[in-house]
Amino acid sequence: MIICPEELSARELYKLLIGTVVPRPIAWVSTISRDGVRNLAPYSFFNAVSADPPVVCFAPSRKPAGDPRKDTLRNVEETGEFVVNIVSVVLAEAMNRTAAEVGPEVDEFELAGVTAVAATRVSAPMVAEAPAKLECRLKQILPMGDRPTSGILVLGEVVCFHYAEGMVEEYRVDAGKLDAVGRMGGMSYSCTRERFDLIRP
Ligand SMILES: Cc1cc2nc3c(=O)[nH]c(=O)nc-3n(C[C@H](O)[C@H](O)[C@H](O)COP(=O)(O)O)c2cc1C
Repeated sequence: MIICPEELSARELYKLLIGTVVPRPIAWVSTISRDGVRNLAPYSFFNAVSADPPVVCFAPSRKPAGDPRKDTLRNVEETGEFVVNIVSVVLAEAMNRTAAEVGPEVDEFELAGVTAVAATRVSAPMVAEAPAKLECRLKQILPMGDRPTSGILVLGEVVCFHYAEGMVEEYRVDAGKLDAVGRMGGMSYSCTRERFDLIRP
């Protein structure tokens, strides 16, 4: 079967892409607005793109009506800072609550029932319960297009790494302790509990 993207609607393209690029890691992005309102939202168009300097990216899509910027993007533009909190299995439901489309005045830490803790180098708060957190400074914003739901790539340099006690040894992160979840197509998620090793040639 061959599918040409120009024949598909935005919705069909979205379904196809999120079912194909799996599992996607989830950035639970925390930010703060210029007015001091805390914001928290999941983004699975997320990955690491450079180790030195350490750079991660995520991509909010444009909102089809009104201001195209999701609250996260607006806050990142206003402050130049954000935190990526890693979502473990026990945090999955709290993460999902923060995907609700709520007004910019809503504190999504309260909505999720998680604890906000101050970061060390950026103004954005972190999720205390998250097993790992990356404090980031905005590097670049790259719009992918001007269609109603086009993605807007946000690149940030990691300026501080945080881990729960005992999770990292010799800079090796214990995947079992991290217990990260991934996003699949539709409403599905995956665990990272079943793993295997391969020796590189
Ligand atoms: C697991 C998960 C992953 C998501 N990934 C994305 C994404 O990569 N890009 C996006 O625009 N929205 C994504 N969403 C939807 C946003 O989280 C949702 O639009 C949210 O309300 C945005 O919040 P904000 O306006 O506070 O930034 C995702 C939702 C879930 C549950």
